[in-house]
Amino acid sequence: MEGFNLPERTTRPELIDFEGISMVHYFTDNWENVQKFQARPDDILIATYPKAGTTWVSYILDLLYFGNSEPERQSSVPIYLRVPFLEMTIPELPTGVELADKLPTTPRLIKTHLPVQLVPKSFWEQNCRVVYVARNAKDNAVSYYHFERMNIVQPEPGDWNTYLQTFMSGKNVFGPWYDHVCGYWEKKQTYSNIHYMFFEDMVEDTGREVERLCSFLGLSTSAEERERITKGTHFDTMKQNKMTNYSTIPIMNFKISPFMRKGKVGDWKNHFTVAQNEQFDEHYKQRMKNTTLRLRTEI
Ligand code: PPS
Repeated sequence: MEGFNLPERTTRPELIDFEGISMVHYFTDNWENVQKFQARPDDILIATYPKAGTTWVSYILDLLYFGNSEPERQSSVPIYLRVPFLEMTIPELPTGVELADKLPTTPRLIKTHLPVQLVPKSFWEQNCRVVYVARNAKDNAVSYYHFERMNIVQPEPGDWNTYLQTFMSGKNVFGPWYDHVCGYWEKKQTYSNIHYMFFEDMVEDTGREVERLCSFLGLSTSAEERERITKGTHFDTMKQNKMTNYSTIPIMNFKISPFMRKGKVGDWKNHFTVAQNEQFDEHYKQRMKNTTLRLRTEI
């Protein structure tokens, strides 16, 4: 399978209100089929707020399950086809649901950015494993800002200050960061099949996080294999790898910003002014005052 070709009529979308969440039609047009998606018990759902480390954890999972058995997939099928984005609906391209339905692998690895309340119910009914990755709000906002600049299926972000206000108000695609990370954190209290990970932990010690993932998934992967996967999914390696760096997808303009941009914890310090940081911290304290969830803005 090759990468996608962009239909000419794909244009920057407007933000819409969808079930109380800000969305764009590229992620809601196929809603009926998304909602009635039939999950299988061994499906693994990779759930994240956009830009939290989805591709990184997707590639780790893909290598854990299929790195040895299907080496040709690694060099010929881009990660966004190996791990379909369930709600994606871009005209004239296969939808995420179609891609997921056609996946030849067991387990199927499926990506979503939907907030927990919008996840198709069959995933919960089938007691599927869910791997959630959260990233601290400041770096997440910075990464999302650059992504919106370069990706035409996202709305125009405006300048950094405008975007930061948008992020704080939660009027960006997939809704407020705050509710997203807290929603899955709360879900973990009643649904034990969620492995809640942090981008910062992955940067700090990828090997340790791969080991924890294996233990959640019940995989007895050897230390050598885990070491190989840790190295193979390093930022620099993934940035060079055409199958993981999104260079084969035409909705992104890498001249504006690459998909694999910096991959760091703390890049927010290069973007936030002192005043923006104070305003953000105050707002953050309010928005997060009722949760036990703690994220690190530096390591
Ligand atoms: S998406 O579009 O929502 O699926 O994007 P997502 O993959 O969640 O997030 C992209 C950001 O993750 C960084 N990234 C990595 N960082 C460190 N190591 C590895 N291996 C890695 N892979 C992806 C990527 O660079 C984006 O973050 P920023 O801060 O923009 O660089």
